Amino acid sequence: MGNRGAIRLESLTRSYGRVVALDDVDLEVRAGEMITLVGPSGSGKSTILRLIAGLDRPDQGRIVVDGQDVVRVPPHRRAVAMVFQDYALYPHLTVLGNLLFGLRVRRVRRAEAERRARAAADRLGIADLLDRYPDQTSGGQRQRIALARALLREPTVYLLDEPLASLDAPLRFATRADLLALHRELGTTTIHVTHDQAEAMTLGDRVAVLDRGRVRQIGPPQQVYDEPADTFVAGFLGSPPMNLVPGGGVLGGAAGLILGVRPEDLALDTDGPIEATVEAAEALGSETILLTRCPDGTRLTVRTGPRPGVRPGEGVRLRPDPGRLHRFDAETGRRR
Ligand SMILES: Nc1ncnc2c1ncn2[C@@H]1O[C@H](COP(=O)(O)OP(=O)(O)O)[C@@H](O)[C@H]1O
Ligand SMILES: [Mg+2]
Repeated sequence: MGNRGAIRLESLTRSYGRVVALDDVDLEVRAGEMITLVGPSGSGKSTILRLIAGLDRPDQGRIVVDGQDVVRVPPHRRAVAMVFQDYALYPHLTVLGNLLFGLRVRRVRRAEAERRARAAADRLGIADLLDRYPDQTSGGQRQRIALARALLREPTVYLLDEPLASLDAPLRFATRADLLALHRELGTTTIHVTHDQAEAMTLGDRVAVLDRGRVRQIGPPQQVYDEPADTFVAGFLGSPPMNLVPGGGVLGGAAGLILGVRPEDLALDTDGPIEATVEAAEALGSETILLTRCPDGTRLTVRTGPRPGVRPGEGVRLRPDPGRLHRFDAETGRRR
């Protein structure tokens, strides 16, 4: 399985009327890789998945799966399984019925189909739900049903469109770990879409950052986080986002540049070179986010420990980690 499911998108373009959903997208996914597409709403993430699944056709470009251009191959002939954001379960079928549906279409014999369906249900921890209808299950359970159904297709590619978006925080955390374990076990090429920071960082060998139909950067998550290719990526990945100061300002003058520093790379330090006033403090339990303002009006966000001992209205001094300053071209926004 490890050498199947390689995907290459070449110059993919798709417009809907005047909306350019995808603008000349090139993307390579290695066989067996799990890649995450991340970007703001409307950046083209779902469009990429729909094109790969064959639910839509590109205006231009090629979609090459295992060396074959599949643009003209109908969806049911493509070896991909898509899990939609809203799960798209059949409400009039039981959970078991939902799992069996695709196997019946493929004319798998009843006993064999049930055996496979029960095995998939076991693997995803939903074996005790098989007789229920989807509306008698919780969001997290529906999520697992949709994943089990995708498993049963035994595809060479999984396409997961924000599969965890409707789960509450603890379940999301647990399911994230399950998805990773499943991918490690199956080794099936997976493209996962999210707008969630933590998922972008943790789910996937590489992350591709999209903005308005274009891939801005692709690489291992930590590398993209540490060396964002432009100010868009710098501002998008990371929560709260990187501080970006045109001209360098309080971070040190730099004509023609924008200097950036992440909130965790600014330390409270009584001897620090930057003077600022705390405008707000968000105590998040494990950490505190300080929103500060410098005398020249620059706002800097600072990530500190749970009890920083400063309150809104108080003055602080900040020290940026000199090894963690980011430099971007003021004109193009590109990293320098
Ligand atoms: N079927 C469609 N008809 C018209 N516009 C569409 C259609 N599908 C997507 N779009 C538009 O294309 C852009 C990208 O959409 P989409 O890929 O769904 O974004 P994302 O999944 O990143 O939120 C958006 O501006 C969206 O409104
Ligand atoms: Mg979408």
